[in-house]
Amino acid sequence: MKDFDGKIALVTGTTGIGLATARRLAAGGAAIIACGIDRAANAAMTAELDSSGAGALVMAVDISVPDQVRDAVTAGVERFGGLDIIVNSAAIHPYGTAVSTDFDTWNQTMSVNVGSIYLTAHFGIPEMIKRGGGAIVNVASVQGFACQQNVAAYATTKGAIHTLTRSLALDYARSGIRVNSVSPGSIRSPILEKAARGENGTDADVEAAYRRFGEAHPIGRIGEPEEVAELIAFLCSSKAGFCTGADYRIDGGLTAGIGVK
Ligand SMILES: NC(=O)c1ccc[n+]([C@@H]2O[C@H](COP(=O)([O-])OP(=O)(O)OC[C@H]3O[C@@H](n4cnc5c(N)ncnc54)[C@H](O)[C@@H]3O)[C@@H](O)[C@H]2O)c1
Repeated sequence: MKDFDGKIALVTGTTGIGLATARRLAAGGAAIIACGIDRAANAAMTAELDSSGAGALVMAVDISVPDQVRDAVTAGVERFGGLDIIVNSAAIHPYGTAVSTDFDTWNQTMSVNVGSIYLTAHFGIPEMIKRGGGAIVNVASVQGFACQQNVAAYATTKGAIHTLTRSLALDYARSGIRVNSVSPGSIRSPILEKAARGENGTDADVEAAYRRFGEAHPIGRIGEPEEVAELIAFLCSSKAGFCTGADYRIDGGLTAGIGVK
């Protein structure tokens, strides 16, 4: 018996941590409903997961658009028979201060990073209740606790995810739905690669930047998506039956210190 046999999991984001989580849950026996806007990544995930295990339905979904999220939940429930797990990993990471960030970018960041968690809960929780409960894991960030400069919109959304996690946990604890978040430090993924490339674009030495980012973490390296996926899988599993309303840091010790030597 595998840890997710018979479970149906919706995962947002089809690259990086979302992809690693879909792989881990599928390896545990879960059927996967995956939602992402990266069509090449969606196609690769379909090819990898469709023929294995309990099956996968990978859909081109803009998770900030209510009708698209509703239709994805409906299609997934029709295909697999219900919904037990939601992992919200998709996000955008624009750079900017309150002055340099335009209002459209601000609103889009709120919609994609936080609004999507409301939307998957809004449409998904009634389906989870029909199954007697379930688990939700939201991918926040260390930036919800202590942030860098020039990421005003992104950091704000990550703090909001911590709060939305607590709110959902309290509202649905008696429905058997546990809700937690994870807060990663720097993790090897397309979002971090964009940060590593910075102003140097394609000429950047990404591995050198990863080593520099890693040095900032007491453990001396950046994390891997599979390490975050393993924590998410634990929080989704019955082993985490008494865990709800909390955030779990996975940051190599980054936020344990104050960075002054
Ligand atoms: N990589 C890190 O260093 C790091 C650190 C802390 C937190 N996080 C968080 O981890 C989560 C996953 O990021 P990642 O590191 O895997 O990077 P990633 O870029 O691989 O994942 C983000 C995914 O979101 C998708 N996406 C963006 N907008 C979307 C939309 N409107 N609709 C559907 N999908 C959309 C992207 O296509 C991508 O697949 C994010 O919430 C991110 O904020 C990452």
